[in-house]
Formats: sequence, structure tokens, C-alpha cells
Amino acid sequence: MTLQIEGLNVSIMRNRVLHGVSLRVSPGELVCLVGRNGAGKTTTFRAIMGFEAIGGGQILWRGKDLNKLATHRIAAAGLGYTPEGSDVFGDLTVEDNIALPTWTRKSTKSADERIEAAYAIFPKLRSYAHRGGQQLSGGERKMVSIARALALDPELLLLDEAFEGLSPAILPTISNGLRSILDQGRSVLLAESNFYHLPRFADRLYVIERGAIIFEGTREQVEADGATMKVIKGVE
Ligand SMILES: Nc1ncnc2c1ncn2[C@@H]1O[C@H](COP(=O)(O)OP(=O)(O)O)[C@@H](O)[C@H]1O
Ligand SMILES: [Mg+2]
Repeated sequence: MTLQIEGLNVSIMRNRVLHGVSLRVSPGELVCLVGRNGAGKTTTFRAIMGFEAIGGGQILWRGKDLNKLATHRIAAAGLGYTPEGSDVFGDLTVEDNIALPTWTRKSTKSADERIEAAYAIFPKLRSYAHRGGQQLSGGERKMVSIARALALDPELLLLDEAFEGLSPAILPTISNGLRSILDQGRSVLLAESNFYHLPRFADRLYVIERGAIIFEGTREQVEADGATMKVIKGVE
């Protein structure tokens, strides 16, 4: 087991946002956390990365409790994080955006090797290397954002909304990139609000609604569960 979350409770400004969330990611898996806007996906990710205080439960990373560890230690332990939206620095080049954090994590691989591995996921980025962040499209910014997290050589990537708000033309590039990330031996936990954006090669899905996991299974099992699909689509 790489990541094991048990009974996670999180409150924000005295409102309980997560109610006993439990989920697991094993090495090499692509696991998806799917749920409507406001369901608690981002809060789950922020709690894992140490940005939200934990009110109960456990977050174990390779058997070690992450609770109360500072974010930089969590990242150094091998957890990568690509926040929702885009966090690209507009006045830095693509190259600098990707290389920026590499010094923050010690690794047996050199920074250059790690940056090369990040470009290998989205080879198109190489031709944009000297462009400024503000010249990029939404999809390009998302790729830079993912590449930056990969340049730290994480074992598990927490990817919040990989496809949200992007033009349909770019979606296969992102999806292929995800496949390549897995091929590099990493695992991925993907948060997604649109069920139909979920990659077919996902190993497992957790459906989250109002801060609680309401269903766990394969994509096919979720799709076959009418009540759960209604929740995901917001029909009920
Ligand atoms: N900074 C915040 N202040 C107040 N409430 C928040 C804040 N962040 C999240 N919440 C609450 O937590 C719930 C879950 O939000 P979030 O984790 O962002 O959901 P998701 O990522 O699934 O869209 C929301 O319904 C919202 O009410
Ligand atoms: Mg979110």
C-alpha cells in the first residue's frame, strides 16, 4: 500500500467538510476520486498535503502517519501535487516554471534527469520551453503544472481536475500523459468532477458526495449503479 486514508475528518471554519473519508492507492495504480463540485475532492487533497488540519482519522504514506508533517516534508517523502486550475507563473518561461522547485527534494536522480522525465510526459512542452507562462493556453498551463510536480520525481501524483475547463482538442494529450506517468512507475490519484473525462484505464474509482465516499469500484461498476450515477450527474 502506498497511500492509505482511514476515517478522515476535516472541518473548515467549524463546518465539517469531510466525514470519515477512507481510500487507498497502491503502487502503479490510477485511482480516481469523482464527485460533483463542492463534494470534498480538493479538501481531501489539501489535507493529504498538510494544508488543512485533520480533525480525525489517519493519512498513512508507506505506513507512516503524515499528520502534522509540514507540506515540504510530505512532498519530500514522495507525494506530488498539481492543484486545480493552473499555478503557472506568468512572468517565468515554461522551462523555469518546471525547473523552479527541483532543489526542494533530494533524490538519487539529478535535477536535469528529473526535468527530462517531466518533458517526456508532454513532449510538446519542449518546443514551448522559452515561452512565457502568460502566452500559454489553458491546456498548456495544465501540462506545465503537471510537469512541475513531476520534476520532483514523486512516487504518487495527486492531480486535482486534470481536464476541467480545457478545450476538447487537448483532452487526449492530457489522458496520454497520464498513461505515460503510470508507465514511469508512479501512481496517480486523480480528482475529477466529470465522470466522462475519467480515463478508461483507471484502476478504481471512489465516488465522493457531501464529504463522504458513497461508492467504490471499477468504472464499469460505478456506471452500472444507477443511483450513484444520478448523484455524479447531479440529477439527484
Ligand atoms: N476555503 C473555504 N472556506 C469555506 N468553505 C470551504 C472552503 N473550502 C472548501 N469549503 C467547503 O468545503 C466543501 C468541499 O469543497 P472542495 O473540497 O473544494 O470540493 P470539490 O473539490 O469536490 O469541488 C465545499 O462545499 C465548501 O463549502
Ligand atoms: Mg475541487
